[in-house]
Amino acid sequence: MNKTTDEIRDAFLSFFKQKGHVIIPSSSLVPNNDPTLLFTNAGMNQFKDIFLGKKQSCHSRVVTSQHCLRTGGKHNDIENVGYTTRHHTFFEMLGNFSFNDYFKKEAIIYAWELLTSPQWFNIPKNKLWISVYTDDKESYDIWSKVIKISPNHIFKIGDINHVKYNSDNFWQMGDTGPCGFCTEIFYDCQENDIHDNDNILENKKKYLIEIWNIVFIEFNRISEKNLIPLPTKSIDTGMGLERITSILQNVFSNYKTDIFKKLIKSISKFSPVKDLNHTSFKIIADHIRACVFIIADNIIPSNEHRGYILRRIIRRALRHGHKLGIKENFFYKLVPDVIKIMSAKNKILNSKEKIIKKTLQIEEIQFTQTLDKGLKLLKKEIKNTKNNVFNGEIAFYLYDTFGFPIDLTADICNEKKIKIDYEKYKKAKENQKKKSSSINKFYKNYNESIIVNYHDTCFFQGYDQNNIQTIVKKIFIHNTEVFEINPNQKGIIFLDKTSFYGESGGQVGDIGQLYNEKSMFQVENTKKYGNTIGHIGYLISGKIIVNDHICSKINQTYRNSIQLNHTAIHLLHAALRYYLGNDVFQKGSFVNDQYLRFDFSYSNHIHLSQLQNIEKIVNMKIRDNILIKIKHLSLEEAKKKKALALFDYYNKSSVRVVFINDFSIELCGGTHTTRTGDIGYFKIISYSSIASGIKRIEAVTAEQAINYLHEKENDIQDISIILKSNSTTVKDSIKKLINKVNILEKKNDHLQKKENKYLIKQIIQQIEYIQEVKIIIQTLNKYDRQILRKIIEQLHKEIKIGIIILINIKNNNFVVMSTVSKNLTHRIQANNIIKEILKKTNGKGGGNHEIAEGGGVNIKIIPLALKYIKLWIKTKLLNTKN
Ligand code: ALA
Repeated sequence: MNKTTDEIRDAFLSFFKQKGHVIIPSSSLVPNNDPTLLFTNAGMNQFKDIFLGKKQSCHSRVVTSQHCLRTGGKHNDIENVGYTTRHHTFFEMLGNFSFNDYFKKEAIIYAWELLTSPQWFNIPKNKLWISVYTDDKESYDIWSKVIKISPNHIFKIGDINHVKYNSDNFWQMGDTGPCGFCTEIFYDCQENDIHDNDNILENKKKYLIEIWNIVFIEFNRISEKNLIPLPTKSIDTGMGLERITSILQNVFSNYKTDIFKKLIKSISKFSPVKDLNHTSFKIIADHIRACVFIIADNIIPSNEHRGYILRRIIRRALRHGHKLGIKENFFYKLVPDVIKIMSAKNKILNSKEKIIKKTLQIEEIQFTQTLDKGLKLLKKEIKNTKNNVFNGEIAFYLYDTFGFPIDLTADICNEKKIKIDYEKYKKAKENQKKKSSSINKFYKNYNESIIVNYHDTCFFQGYDQNNIQTIVKKIFIHNTEVFEINPNQKGIIFLDKTSFYGESGGQVGDIGQLYNEKSMFQVENTKKYGNTIGHIGYLISGKIIVNDHICSKINQTYRNSIQLNHTAIHLLHAALRYYLGNDVFQKGSFVNDQYLRFDFSYSNHIHLSQLQNIEKIVNMKIRDNILIKIKHLSLEEAKKKKALALFDYYNKSSVRVVFINDFSIELCGGTHTTRTGDIGYFKIISYSSIASGIKRIEAVTAEQAINYLHEKENDIQDISIILKSNSTTVKDSIKKLINKVNILEKKNDHLQKKENKYLIKQIIQQIEYIQEVKIIIQTLNKYDRQILRKIIEQLHKEIKIGIIILINIKNNNFVVMSTVSKNLTHRIQANNIIKEILKKTNGKGGGNHEIAEGGGVNIKIIPLALKYIKLWIKTKLLNTKN
């Protein structure tokens, strides 16, 4: 029989339809309401609640061809993809299910009939082998007595490491959930049948391909140690469509079946590699199929959760494209072919072609920009690897700088049998997290480069309301206007009115949620787009459609922190002008929930004591607990009140003016706290000059200010502990320590000089003569460059006329220095001596006729280089006159 993959799928579904099963479509790759599962990994996932008795099924017998993804989680095959003939990330699982209907006997009989009946798959019976769980006598008897399989073709599988039910013949969906014993059917792909002997099973196993797993679901695993029997017994079976196709098409490799042959051909158009058996072709073919189906199920690449798995698959495929010598962005261009090849039965794919292509294109462009550089570094580091352990810090650097997921680095290392030092990787990641949380604290500015072509007006009602009822007007995903947004999709939602402040006037945008009874959208940032406001984020659950009624609710804690900093910046501005004079003009500002930054013109340096006084003024105003008043005035009135503003930017007839008594009057569209006292405490944390005449102050307020002081306090305490003193005496301890170091340095100098003198004496005793010229060539091994320089200068003074070459080899590096006395430089020059040595050693350096130096790492060659230089000097001296 030579059926296509599509025909084989159809045959499976029809067979079970004839046996009273209802054909149900594949569910999404994203499991519905199952937080224990990242992706659908088996046909039974969509029926989990039915197996558990939580839900009633409309049908007691169903059959499906289910899209599955096995990467991440309990069932993870990604590492094997391309390297074996039959592993995939994405695949289709054919399965028949019985809910409290037939059990072991019928399930086995059906499977046998489909596989062996001439009318169906027509596989010779002697090609099939069976495994059962050791204690599952019932299954064993059905196979041997009802089906009448020779006991030689049945093998019993027990528990691994004596852990109960830890067996290939006990199947479970994940760490928890429905499970039970199973029986598996294998196909024997050995050409000639071998004769029975004692070792038959062990010999045979390497030729057996598992094709069908029949699971007898009867337990619920609620924890590692706890299995409870289910009220009803069910059947769950799974047969990989790609695998059975490889057998029925007689090719024995999934990658040689009709679908994969076509896919690989499409990929090969982009590559100069002609060998279509190249592993990378297989990997790309598997991965592009996976990506198309994942994105079709509304996942987009990101750095976490499902989005990360997708990103990892894409990047892995791109790297294999690189291995195949593909120079262009090719991956996204495969989408139409994949859809054509896969979509005879899948109409949904067709409608999603554009979005899938766009998603992959964006990701591909982004990653290929750094792929080359990252791979170069990775290859170099692999060369430097010792004991087959790859430096975890470099693995992190590759991730952080070049976007190499750790699994990608691990993949590449695996090919060379190198392991990653995961401990170091984790440490580097944690350190970075700590660092970036403090940086992010300060620069948590959303970097969304989406350009949206949309003009409208949205009313901001968030000065005094944090949650309002509103209507969805537009939705954009990847710059494209769409009608709806689905779970995990990232996009921008525009509303009729909003409580979210759109980033402007130096104040960051709000975060929060848009929600109604059925849906929830997480707003990660809010930006202004002309007169309208975009809510940027992703859909957590449900579905949001244009014209939906929705609540817009900001994260009030986040907003409160921003407000404290915003009011504080007005106080700082006023205090600067009050204390330093009216030369101070605002040049820029930024406030978020963590800190504030104020740039202003002022030509002189501001001393610490002045900064402290400014800080005092601000804190005094905070303690005055002044009520902040907002008034809408005409521009003229505002000017009369001497309100501070970048007036050039204001062309409205009415302006919003923020009053903090008459200490600070400022035009401002931002949000503010109610009273200055809310700020609690204001602390300047840095002062700098950022351009000629422009200064910058950064400060924190409230809790952040207290945290800042605590950090300082902790630092002082740590230093005191190290110096074995306390906070009041720590200064004296440091002074004492510095004195001590100075004395020791002096002593060390003195000793060094003594040692040098001794060394010089010894070296001088070894002076050689070439053509009556004094020559010193010495190799040393413990001096730093500076000391070597002193030694050579000293030697030079001692011998007066002659040539010196000193080489110091230390820590696998060498430093070489040479001097030539002035009266010899017309014959031979120090810089040329060094040049000759460095030529031989691949080092770098330079200098003048009298003194020169260089260095390098090629230390093995040094003895040879010195022999050579001696000869070179001799020839030079022979050929030049005194
Ligand atoms: N759920 C079973 C499996 O995935 C059939 O192997």
